[in-house]
Amino acid sequence: GTEPIPQRPALPLVGHAFDIPSGADGLLHVMKEARELGPLFKIRVFGNEINFASGLDLVTELADESRFRKSVHNDLVILREIGGDGLFTAFHHEPNWRRAHDVLMPAFSLGAMRGYHTTMLEVARELLRKWDGAAGDEPVDVAADMTRLTFDTIGLCGFGYDFESFAREETHPFVTALSRALGFAQARGESIPGMELFKRRQAEQFRGDVALMKDLVDDVIRQRRASGDRSTADLLGRMLHTADAATGEPLDDVNIRYQAITFLIAGHETTSGALSFALYYLTKHPEVLARAQAEVDALWGDEDTPEPEYGDIGRLTYIRQVLNESLRLWPTAPAYAVEPLEDTVIGGKYAVRGGESIQVLIPQLHRDPAWGENVELFDPDRFLPEREEQRPAHLFKPFGNGERACIGRQFALHEATLVLALVIHRYRLIDHADYQLKIKQSLTLKPDGFTLRLARRTGDE
Ligand code: HEM
Repeated sequence: GTEPIPQRPALPLVGHAFDIPSGADGLLHVMKEARELGPLFKIRVFGNEINFASGLDLVTELADESRFRKSVHNDLVILREIGGDGLFTAFHHEPNWRRAHDVLMPAFSLGAMRGYHTTMLEVARELLRKWDGAAGDEPVDVAADMTRLTFDTIGLCGFGYDFESFAREETHPFVTALSRALGFAQARGESIPGMELFKRRQAEQFRGDVALMKDLVDDVIRQRRASGDRSTADLLGRMLHTADAATGEPLDDVNIRYQAITFLIAGHETTSGALSFALYYLTKHPEVLARAQAEVDALWGDEDTPEPEYGDIGRLTYIRQVLNESLRLWPTAPAYAVEPLEDTVIGGKYAVRGGESIQVLIPQLHRDPAWGENVELFDPDRFLPEREEQRPAHLFKPFGNGERACIGRQFALHEATLVLALVIHRYRLIDHADYQLKIKQSLTLKPDGFTLRLARRTGDE
């Protein structure tokens, strides 16, 4: 026999809506519910039921792609107004998903990172120039500058387009429009059905923001077309000039625009948060920072301007462990959703319908008892190679699952490893405000209000 999926008593109609705080507190709330209600539970917000899975056994079962596929649930459907049938928001059955996936995969192989390395380094040096100016003088806003860095990096590596974020006082208009649009989409997802009607002005703003993003991307595409450049060296070139094997045609213009917007968003938000959390943990764990600095010093000595090579990134294994451990505690894309292909029973006793969405709550999976004791402790040694070999396959899922997992994973890790290494090689990190971690969520996670003081390491040590 089957049992009902655990849930707390709910009010008629509204369900649990009034129990769930909005934004990041909502995430912390569902993490607490997972601790109390177990590896699978359900909440109901008005007519909308959401299942949350977080136990290792269950997540392992849900990773089976012969039974489950990505679910484009309500929140993602809202985002389709921005990303359309681009990779991230495409329904699994939409033909453009497979076409774009096949066209773009080669641009994301480990080997392809060789082609992006120099550009990533140039942008990293812009960050260092800015931080040199602030060092010893004024604190830096970590997440804001990491956003400048990751946004410019995806712009240049993916599209040969320079957003010049470091020359700007304010965030780039695309980033401003994006964060407002995501805020609106999130609020609409959480709002009382029917109430959207009263938010006419915000809805208009949302349309304006989406139009701004589309216009900018169209401009980037137009400039490339006008240049006569037919190379396929970057994402845009591949999309414009590679025929997909099945149809012999390149992707259509509307789809290329959706992919471009998707990459500009997915390519910077999460990596920026991951870098910010890693710097937060390094600041709070001097013994870890010392080990990480020893690793970069062994490679680059006390050179003022090191010349990291492509091959160095693979040698920075402890830096990579630091990044992984940061992504364990705060996976910056905190959930992915799957649905059964047909009616089935999960966890040995819970009936779920075909197409019913099940969200994998990644931060809670990453605190599963299988990680050992003291799961809240920041300990990069969890990712020592010999321990990684023994780790169950689905215990660490910051990049999602299966075919619909993150296509940009190598890109993110290459960029983040490079930048983190350069930053800690150059600066001491000074926790001038005794920062207490506060999570901010707008689709992805960031440490809210995290500022650092920096001092150059050379000369003053
Ligand atoms: C998908 C996380 C960086 C592009 C995903 C998914 C996760 C994720 C969890 C699966 C979403 C789902 O199942 O609904 C992350 C994290 C990153 C990161 C934690 C950084 C630390 C990037 C970068 C790019 C990128 C740098 C592009 C350059 C994408 C795309 C998808 C995706 C296009 C959709 C793939 C598909 O469904 O075919 N990412 N991501 N991501 N990511 Fe990332």
